[in-house]
Amino acid sequence: MRSVLVTGGAGFIGSNFVRHLVSTTDVSVTVLDKMTYAASRESIADLPADRCRLVVGDIVDSELVDELVGSHDAVVHFAAESHNDNSLDDPSPFVQTNLVGTFTLLEAVRKHDVRFHHISTDEVYGDLELDDPTRFTEATAYEPSSPYSSTKAGSDLLVRAWVRSFGVRATISNCSNNYGPYQHVEKFIPRQITQLIDGLRPRLYGDGLNVRDWIHVEDHSSAVLTILTTGQIGQTYLIGADGEKNNLDVVTTLLGIFGRDADDFDHVTDRPGHDRRYAIDSSKLRTELGWTPQFGDFETGLADTVQWYRDHESWWRPAKAATESKYAAQGQ
Ligand code: NAD
Ligand code: DAU
Repeated sequence: MRSVLVTGGAGFIGSNFVRHLVSTTDVSVTVLDKMTYAASRESIADLPADRCRLVVGDIVDSELVDELVGSHDAVVHFAAESHNDNSLDDPSPFVQTNLVGTFTLLEAVRKHDVRFHHISTDEVYGDLELDDPTRFTEATAYEPSSPYSSTKAGSDLLVRAWVRSFGVRATISNCSNNYGPYQHVEKFIPRQITQLIDGLRPRLYGDGLNVRDWIHVEDHSSAVLTILTTGQIGQTYLIGADGEKNNLDVVTTLLGIFGRDADDFDHVTDRPGHDRRYAIDSSKLRTELGWTPQFGDFETGLADTVQWYRDHESWWRPAKAATESKYAAQGQ
């Protein structure tokens, strides 16, 4: 594998994966990214030009996709509309990018017989009760709740069908909630960190007891590279790092890092249809492919992430005011 096409490589997880590829392998990377509001050129601007080039374009553009896929050894597909709250406001770009975009890529990898890895989410499985002793596995039935998660579920099913019907050489991974550098300020952790940097109060949806299974983005990257290089074609792998926390605990930890009182936050309007809990059992990935997460301590990872946002204000500041005015209009 000498060249990899990374869709969505200027977004949060995609850009971290591109950095991981450049630092741990000698492959050359092409990023295909539409540069939506969620993308940033700066996230990959410091990478060597002979290892990483950016093509600005849309994954639904079949001519462009065909040309790029045909000249690479593998495709890792991160590009998506990724934010649940936005999908409740306007589902249309989610259907276009997540479903039609994935279809467009699948047709190109089918034509050129190129290895394909599809990035997906644990949200395709719906949610669990807080006291449910089970966790999601590769055998859990799909039951997505939001326009975002239903379009991701649909894209996974397209990949499975293209493997079975056309022999496309693809794998799928479904990961839990990522945190770390270069995450857009609309997302939970960066939103609260940047509120606190600005001396404002964190904003907690509903009762704050919803649970997410946090994984550092660097662990997601190493898992994806492991699957890309050693995963079995046609298989799905769940990626998680045993990081279940409720939102209230995350906010309290952040308040502690900033030296603020534990009750110095606001409860705001809940998200409609808000999934209660996600939890990943990643035994298959660990046992069959030998992957293990390296960022086991969430509090340390969170403190490092706070420091990153303190050190990179010029990266996130331009998006903060517009993001907050959108939330304010929804009472959040
Ligand atoms: P993000 O919103 O930060 O980045 C998405 C990127 O895709 C952006 O750079 C955007 O410009 C690009 N993009 C959007 N539409 C495009 C199009 N039509 N053509 C080309 N590029 C387009 O998202 P993220 O959080 O980095 O998520 C990346 C992937 O990982 C998504 O597929 C998401 O479903 C999945 N995922 C995310 C998480 C998480 O916690 N954030 C967890 C599991 C899985
Ligand atoms: O589980 C994987 C998914 O994680 C990915 O597929 C998605 O792309 C990614 O956005 C993320 O989805 P969530 O909806 O879980 O993430 P978000 O950061 O939007 O919210 C995390 C939790 O925090 C959720 O319970 C809602 C809550 N929340 C969010 C915001 C923005 C708040 O309480 N306050 C907030 O201000």
